[in-house]
Amino acid sequence: MFDSYLGSLLNISSVSIIKAIATALVAHFVLISAWRLWFHPLASVPGPRLAAVSSLWEVWQDVFRDGNMARAISRLHDEYNSDVVRISPNHVHINDPDFYFQMFKVTSGFEKDPAFYSKLGVPHSILSVDTKTARFIRTKANAIVAPRDWGVMAEKAYKVTKRASDHLASQSRRGDEIDLFQMLRSISTDMICHLCFGFSAGFVDNPEESSQLFRVLDMCLEGLWYTVHIPFLAEYIFVLPNWILKTLIPGYIYFRRQGGQWVDQTLERSKNASEEERKLTLIDVLNPSSGQDASEKDRSWLIDQGNVFVFAGVDTTSTMLMYTFHKVLSSPDILNRLQKELQDAKLSIDEQYDWKRVRQLPYLTAVIKEGLRMSVVIPGRLPRVVPPEGVKYKGLFIPGGTSVSSTIYSMHHNPAVFPEPYWFNPDRWLAEDSIELEKYNVAFSKGTRSCIGMNLAYLEIYTTLALFFSKFEMRVDYPGVGEELDWGDSLARRSKDFIKVSILADRFSDGV
Ligand code: HEM
Repeated sequence: MFDSYLGSLLNISSVSIIKAIATALVAHFVLISAWRLWFHPLASVPGPRLAAVSSLWEVWQDVFRDGNMARAISRLHDEYNSDVVRISPNHVHINDPDFYFQMFKVTSGFEKDPAFYSKLGVPHSILSVDTKTARFIRTKANAIVAPRDWGVMAEKAYKVTKRASDHLASQSRRGDEIDLFQMLRSISTDMICHLCFGFSAGFVDNPEESSQLFRVLDMCLEGLWYTVHIPFLAEYIFVLPNWILKTLIPGYIYFRRQGGQWVDQTLERSKNASEEERKLTLIDVLNPSSGQDASEKDRSWLIDQGNVFVFAGVDTTSTMLMYTFHKVLSSPDILNRLQKELQDAKLSIDEQYDWKRVRQLPYLTAVIKEGLRMSVVIPGRLPRVVPPEGVKYKGLFIPGGTSVSSTIYSMHHNPAVFPEPYWFNPDRWLAEDSIELEKYNVAFSKGTRSCIGMNLAYLEIYTTLALFFSKFEMRVDYPGVGEELDWGDSLARRSKDFIKVSILADRFSDGV
């Protein structure tokens, strides 16, 4: 009797407690939503209501629409006919080149938004840290990523690309289907491993090993939005048991393990290396305990740096190249003009690679600028925080602490800057007044946090396009002319379509 009395009392009280909690939560949500909609300093900024009251609109675009954010933002500007739109309660997007340059000016005071960058799974890496810490890393890294003489790197890039082209030629002779993206990714990986760890991973020679790494990179890209949107994941990423990480973000754990192996190999080698030899790789110049056993903390920090460089350096360059191959091969006129220019410079490409000459070729350069503009390999939001004093934009006061983005996708498709923005037209970079366009090519971003790998990217891009288009007569089999390669935004552009090509002739071997 007493038991059942207590039971019913407990039942009643637990139901009431649940009811009270639920009511409090609903009331909290209603009040917060009302405040965000009508009283928040950004309340007057147009945008979807869901975005004004919660971050669910971002989750919807990132996760459920498979990385659609950059395009969705662009559509919002059209839909609301406004240069500024609200994409989450405390985040606005501004589509205005002048504002872009104000925000990405070296002295702008707009810091990377830690609420976003700390959730990418590499919180201590150059990508995620504040500008002061990044400057420290960048100063050390400069000796490697921006050397005075690119001679050695250019030689390396040519060797790797030449081997890749020989493999493609053999695949073609065997009648195999040509997976161009896989080979472009292999070239980028071999180059970035050389730069970071001092050895070529040999990926252009080893399609099986390379496809394993690329599967892992794909998994990382697919899992990226989970770490951004599931709050505890990024926060506890280093303490969560492996089985949880493997289930939720499988790519992360494998990629970290691979990065760990590369870093360990580099550290082991450098223990017996001379002072001079310890200045040749990125990991060596960044290593705080140079030449000695690295502490676990230093080792973990170095893995973060190495992984970010590999992550940032592989798919960016190879995706831009794949996109450019597709566009050029789909446009007979562009292809003819490019091949004619390369034919005239044949000796600098085939006999003795002359990187300085290749870099000066005007039509190739125009094709590359247009490829960088349209491939937008970093398409989405790269949020910055408004400095404490706030900022005024066309009569709107945006308070300090607000997140603000201005995507490269919007800039590169702005019809006021690039008329007919969806047309691949290298000639826009050759027109008399094209010098004025240069500043709007923000593929590598601007300011203190612009791309540190830009020089390497240009070296790879010029070398691959020059060599492949000189050597091969190619045909694109998929997708057809006029069709686009589908993609999603996972911080970097994540390809959903991969081009298929056939090699019709090998000019260097067939004597065409
Ligand atoms: C076509 C090729 C590439 C493009 C278009 C590109 C573009 C970009 C952009 C837009 C950013 C700024 C991201 C932000 O604001 O958060 C960036 C940062 C970065 N990129 Fe690249 N990138 C390319 C290739 C590379 C390569 C080859 C490397 C490695 C050598 C690299 C390493 C990095 C790193 C480490 C950062 C972070 C820098 C910092 O936050 O201070 N990128 N890149």
